[in-house]
Amino acid sequence: MTDALRIARLSKRWPNGTTALSDIDLTVGGDEFVAILGGSGAGKSTLLRCVARLIEPSAGSVVVDGVDVTAAKGRALTKARSRVGFVFQQFNLVPKYTALENVLLARVSRHSYWRGLLGRFTDEDRLAARSALERVGLGDKLDAPARELSGGQQQRVAVARAFAQEPRLLLADEPTASLDPRLAEVVLDLLRDYGRANHVAVLVNVHAIEHARNFATRVVGLQKGAVVFDGPASSLDDAAVERIYGERK
Ligand SMILES: Nc1ncnc2c1ncn2[C@@H]1O[C@H](COP(=O)(O)OP(=O)(O)OP(=O)(O)O)[C@@H](O)[C@H]1O
Ligand SMILES: [Mg+2]
Repeated sequence: MTDALRIARLSKRWPNGTTALSDIDLTVGGDEFVAILGGSGAGKSTLLRCVARLIEPSAGSVVVDGVDVTAAKGRALTKARSRVGFVFQQFNLVPKYTALENVLLARVSRHSYWRGLLGRFTDEDRLAARSALERVGLGDKLDAPARELSGGQQQRVAVARAFAQEPRLLLADEPTASLDPRLAEVVLDLLRDYGRANHVAVLVNVHAIEHARNFATRVVGLQKGAVVFDGPASSLDDAAVERIYGERK
């Protein structure tokens, strides 16, 4: 069976000389919920952004569900990106658009450029967007502008937008950092349930160790751009936490 994600020898060096990722190898199966842990600057965001190809890696390859994302260009790149759902810490919604319109934007890449630009969505698109919003408990907020929603509601719209993409891989970069603890768990629950129900791998950058322990099946620890821990969430003991956050020898 095809792996959900295969990362090989992935490196990112910024123009200023900072090495954010060095030689990352990681293979993830469709049933995994991976929590990525690491101190500030460890490379967590850079890793997820390279996987979604929001930034260009310096070397290495990323294969999502059998498709090489790093080699893709033009329409193939748009298509490859559309297979990866991404949830941002700061939601990244269009404030003046309604919840439904924000979620519909996830469907643009399915259509020709002009059709997307003109907002000519199909009934199927509208149904998918509506059901994604119902899935995150916002069926009563379809027509509310994003700027009138609370932080927790906005993040659930962003999660619904990722679901409406029908992604083959779901990435979330500290999706709960701007939320209170209860809402944080709601959002992680939604991501986990989606992954389980659709056999889609989920990779989440988290700050809270208990979130990794409670939600993840697997934990990957980064330090200075390298993997220093990779194991089942049940093996994340104090020594492992020390290895991830302590000084790299
Ligand atoms: N646009 C950029 N230009 C240059 N260096 C960058 C850029 N973005 C990030 N970096 C550097 O790359 C390294 C990894 O940053 P990254 O944002 O991936 O860390 P992180 O693990 O997500 O940290 P945090 O927990 O603070 O979000 C850091 O040294 C950072 O300073
Ligand atoms: Mg980050």
